Amino acid sequence: MQEIRRYVSDNKQRFLEELFELLRFPSVSADPKYKADMLKTAQYVADKLKTAGADTVEICPTAGYPIVFGEKIIDRSLPTVLVYGHYDVQPPDPIELWHTPPFEPTIRDEKIYARGSCDDKGQFYMHVKAFELMMKINSLPCNVKFMIEGEEEVGSSNLGIFVSQNKERLKADVVLISDTSMIGLENPSLETGLRGLSYVEVEVTGPDRDLHSGVYGGAVGNPATILAKLIASMHDENNHITIPGFYDDVLELSEQERDMLNRAPYNESEYKVDLKVDELWGEKGYTTLERTGTRPTLEVNGIWGGYIGEGAKTVLPSKAYAKISMRLVPNQQSDKITKLFKDHFESIAPKSVKVKVTPHHGGEPVVTPTDSIAFKAAQKAIFESFGKEPIPTRGGGSIPIVALFEKELGIKTVLMGFGLDSDNLHSPNEKFDLANFYKGIETIPLFFRYFAELSK
Ligand code: BES
Ligand code: MN
Ligand code: MN
Repeated sequence: MQEIRRYVSDNKQRFLEELFELLRFPSVSADPKYKADMLKTAQYVADKLKTAGADTVEICPTAGYPIVFGEKIIDRSLPTVLVYGHYDVQPPDPIELWHTPPFEPTIRDEKIYARGSCDDKGQFYMHVKAFELMMKINSLPCNVKFMIEGEEEVGSSNLGIFVSQNKERLKADVVLISDTSMIGLENPSLETGLRGLSYVEVEVTGPDRDLHSGVYGGAVGNPATILAKLIASMHDENNHITIPGFYDDVLELSEQERDMLNRAPYNESEYKVDLKVDELWGEKGYTTLERTGTRPTLEVNGIWGGYIGEGAKTVLPSKAYAKISMRLVPNQQSDKITKLFKDHFESIAPKSVKVKVTPHHGGEPVVTPTDSIAFKAAQKAIFESFGKEPIPTRGGGSIPIVALFEKELGIKTVLMGFGLDSDNLHSPNEKFDLANFYKGIETIPLFFRYFAELSK
């Protein structure tokens, strides 16, 4: 531990400069105008893996953005850890709300502000530096493989094919991912599950063209009004989702499991103050921790239609749209839920409009084992570097590839995230605390140590 701490403290500044360089690439996978930057980012990641000590590094092309694969095999008879991360980031919009530019990383109050600082460049880069550290101080106790992709934020649609075509190359005993949150440095935690996702876009069409709202208004169904009604009807007065069959497959937690999860520190008034809301909202009968971790939800992610420019234009729009996502919990299936949504939405639409539901990407929920060698290694590593037992929590976000690793490769995952829920992921002013970055680099080698030891 001493040696690890010393190496981190001796190299602090360089680690940060390298991360800054990585953060300066605007690697936005959703927007084709950043294609060249995406490829430069992949190259940068590959170079850094190579200099950290990987034997082979390859930038593997896909139908979309490339996957960076690297490995260091010290002995085939030793266990292998597969580190997964993503070098793509979410679009920075709305850009005017950033206090400093999203791709010019800036330190304020001991925090790194930049798009991707936490999700996921800052987090996967901890693994690259932890790997360098283990190589330099001669303490890599097992084999390591890296798979850093560029399409996580757009649904990882080409990663599945890569995984199924490279089963031998990806062979490992555990997948290790830092792309989730912890409660805080004072309360380290390990996420033991992720929600799945079903994402759809809906289009509501009224008349075949925009109309004068004075001439036709009142006589023709307004798609924006009707869309608002349809959406509003999808939660009942207890905020339960009204789609028939939506909850059928949901695995209810036992009272004991619920108690366990609700023991995690959570302060409702701080939560409200942080978000500047006077009251919380959610499914009746469940706590906030349950609502965000173990219950399925339906959220509107965007809604538009009609005139949204400056000033007023009296128009009855021809069309209105919304993007809607549903977070899923164990036993629910993404395709099935998408179909339930589609059937329901079509069935409740009045005859005055036509509706079209287009499915986007989805992903399956997962729970990760807490009795495995790998989970125990993560617990021990955190205990040693934080001086506290990690609290098990359920994460609200989704990393669809985790279920795929299980299905295709038969490998379970450990979610050892070092971000905070308040790091503004996908929002303006995304940040990552310097302390969390360095703590992560210190903790990862301990995970490797205990994983190798416990595997013996
Ligand atoms: N790293 C996040 C997921 C996450 C964040 C999990 C915080 C747990 C806690 C990931 O990059 C992400 O944003 N995933 C998307 C899904 C994807 C299919 C676009 C999400 O959760 O919305
Ligand atoms: Mn992520
Ligand atoms: Mn993300």
